[in-house]
Amino acid sequence: MDNNNVQRDGFSSRLGILFAAAGSAIGLGNIWKFPYITGVYGGAAFILVYLLCIALIGLPIMLSEFTIGRRAQKNAIGSFKTLKPNSPWFLTGWMGFIAAFSILSFYGVVAGWTVDYIVKAITGAYVGLDADAIGGLFVGLISNPVMTVVYQLIFMILTGLIVYGGIKDGIEKYSKILMPLLLVIIVILDVRAVTLPGASEGINFLFSPDFSALSAEAVLVALGHAFFSLSLGMGTMITYGSYIGKKEDLGSMALQVTIADTVIALLAGLAIFPAVFAFGVEPAAGPGLVFITLPNVFNQMAGGMIWGVLFFLLLAVAALTSAISILEVVVAYFAEELKMPRHKATILATAAISFVGALAGLSYTSVLGNVLIPLPGFGSLVIFDWLDMLSANYLLPLGGLFISIFVGWIMKKEDVIDEVSNSGAIKISWFGAFMILAKVVAPIMIAIVFLNGIGIFKF
Ligand code: PHE
Repeated sequence: MDNNNVQRDGFSSRLGILFAAAGSAIGLGNIWKFPYITGVYGGAAFILVYLLCIALIGLPIMLSEFTIGRRAQKNAIGSFKTLKPNSPWFLTGWMGFIAAFSILSFYGVVAGWTVDYIVKAITGAYVGLDADAIGGLFVGLISNPVMTVVYQLIFMILTGLIVYGGIKDGIEKYSKILMPLLLVIIVILDVRAVTLPGASEGINFLFSPDFSALSAEAVLVALGHAFFSLSLGMGTMITYGSYIGKKEDLGSMALQVTIADTVIALLAGLAIFPAVFAFGVEPAAGPGLVFITLPNVFNQMAGGMIWGVLFFLLLAVAALTSAISILEVVVAYFAEELKMPRHKATILATAAISFVGALAGLSYTSVLGNVLIPLPGFGSLVIFDWLDMLSANYLLPLGGLFISIFVGWIMKKEDVIDEVSNSGAIKISWFGAFMILAKVVAPIMIAIVFLNGIGIFKF
């Protein structure tokens, strides 16, 4: 039984699945966020904690999501309905649907900035400017209503066009082009960075841990980021899992995607910090690290224009393969549960998310800058921050918690074994360890992060 439903689209090759799933995981989280939080939270010690979170929580939940999706052969909501009919478990899928909608709304805005920075790099917009003026350039972009909305829209249309093509001829096809491109660009940037005079300080910052720099908050940020970076907790990997052929080995696939995501995050750090230290720029610059700090660095590098174009292209490509995976969660739901033709579902989902995304983008401008929405534990926030905080602090952790509990406690153990072993065709000597992680370790650690994140208790 390769597929219950002959009509159902799916990935056509093992490599295609790997590129698509790794493409989902590898995104702005790796290249924009990971370096800046590593900078803020002290470097190597933070990275070690992050790696631990990836191995103990990220990996088992990735496998759990693949297992749910491939078992049910459905979208995130339909999967829970199929595996546990007449129960409230489908609400987990619904939460994922809402998370997908919220995340893509603000993700598209940041991705729009990266598109604008490709243009800035090509036209030399930041060449010759001092640090203050480069900062002003970024603020000028995000506070400009027209540019924000237009670039966000360009990015969303691109995302929509790829998803419109379907799984094999859209997502898989483009992932197979975009992911190798991303790898090539990042390796070129790495070679440049580590051969800069004075690069060693940046390399030390990344790889020799100073545990005295580690705070409790850093541990929580590391865990939260492990989730976001691996695209977990909102049904992306459930949806992609449902397109994985029955002969593929889910365990090794989850392992490979996890390793790829982690390696690219480290390579992104390696492309950025040696340059940051070599040119004496502040490593703990925060969210502006790649948009403000790096243009300063490019200005001081020989051939800076080329490195700038390559870097922002890398960022946009990474964002694109992640955005398509988020859009697919919404499209698969519209198409399968609401029985909409897939093309119509794609247009509708893209339009709806672009609309909310435009509102998110406008929240840094004078148009909607004074519209504040309350979020328990976080006060009142502008729309962009509200969508970001709602998904990062509520929806993803709760989604991950329920997903691990579902596979660990609710699904029949024989069914889980049957799915991950391909009905006994592959040996799964690691199954006991997986169960301990999914049943106990992951839920407890996520619960701690969740309660801390919403301020129920503080470390
Ligand atoms: N993992 C993506 C990144 O690192 C973001 C993402 C989150 C994608 C959740 C899908 C689901 O940028």
